[in-house]
Amino acid sequence: MNKLSPHENDRESLCAQIVGLGDQTLRKSYFPQLQKQIEELKKARAAEEEKSAALEIMIRDLRESRAQTEESERKFRTLADFTNDMEYWTGPDERIIYMSPSCEPLTGYSQGDFAAHPELFESIVHPDDRSLLAIHALGAALVEPHCVDLRIITRQGLTRWFAHTCQAIFAEDGRWLGLRGSNRDITKRKVAEDQIQRYSGQLESAFMHTVLVAMNLSELRDPYTAGHERRVGEIARAIANELGLDENRAKGVEVAGYLHDLGKMTIPAEILTRPGKLSAVELMLIRGHAQASYNVLQHAEFPWPVADIALQHHERLDGSGYPQGLKGEQILLEARILAVADVVEAMASHRPYRPPLGIEQALAEIERGCGSLYDPAVVEVCLRLFREKGFKLPQ
Ligand SMILES: [Fe+2]
Ligand SMILES: [Fe+2]
Repeated sequence: MNKLSPHENDRESLCAQIVGLGDQTLRKSYFPQLQKQIEELKKARAAEEEKSAALEIMIRDLRESRAQTEESERKFRTLADFTNDMEYWTGPDERIIYMSPSCEPLTGYSQGDFAAHPELFESIVHPDDRSLLAIHALGAALVEPHCVDLRIITRQGLTRWFAHTCQAIFAEDGRWLGLRGSNRDITKRKVAEDQIQRYSGQLESAFMHTVLVAMNLSELRDPYTAGHERRVGEIARAIANELGLDENRAKGVEVAGYLHDLGKMTIPAEILTRPGKLSAVELMLIRGHAQASYNVLQHAEFPWPVADIALQHHERLDGSGYPQGLKGEQILLEARILAVADVVEAMASHRPYRPPLGIEQALAEIERGCGSLYDPAVVEVCLRLFREKGFKLPQ
């Protein structure tokens, strides 16, 4: 061990003191600055940690939300992939984002065809239905989803009916994201509807022909009044339309007009066609035709009360008519219409016992009996038809 001399010890101690003094001086001058830097560093670190924690929460939320989106997309795809309907989504640029696999069996075109050609769907819509599709798409974008039936032509050239629905998709902030569309194949239903419509048209035509056959048969017995029932039917129909009766009820009035005098077949032809005044018995026989019409027609199943209308067509508002002497609204509106049409036609046309009196005299008669014999509303409409609307007595 080195032993220092007393002199050397003093020097060592002085050096230590000088160094100590220097340290103290340095410490004194740098300490506050260091302290401040340490504090700032601590604060910055705390802020970083805070940011990092917030970032972690955001990442976790994003992962969760992405997982939820993926889950709902998976569910949607599972549903859409297995549906028989042709489902699709387009982006705002009208490009196909998703097309369900059912597009191929329904149209003959693959998912790839639709993805490669955004205009493909519109181009396979039947040319006559394209404007319908355009109006529909605009409506879906502006208002709300609704359904339209349209035809498409498949790759194989077949025509299919689609019930087409589309809906505009918007983001929460209102941005337009595109369209969601769905096409259901309704070809079978449409074909069945067409057949029903065709059969029902054929049935209606056959029914009307039967009515006309019955009408012609009854007129064969009385050639002097030939055409009376047809003309009464046409005038009554025009009055019913002008009165605002619905199409079905107006049709019933027309048919009742064609058949109202069917019961005249029970009257001997010589009485019907004989000119001159009739005896009381002959008059009674002629008056019996309303009841006879009813007796024949009541067995036919019409969708309208044709038998009752025929029975009541000689009833008068004040109860002076026959066969039941009904009054006012006891008489069916259809029969009140027929009564006016019947009188106008009969007076304006030729009869075995007199020449035609002309339409003006016929109209004057219903005007005279307006409210007492004939329904005022029916008379008013009949006068308007002939005098203001140019309606002519059917030929
Ligand atoms: Fe009659
Ligand atoms: Fe008649």
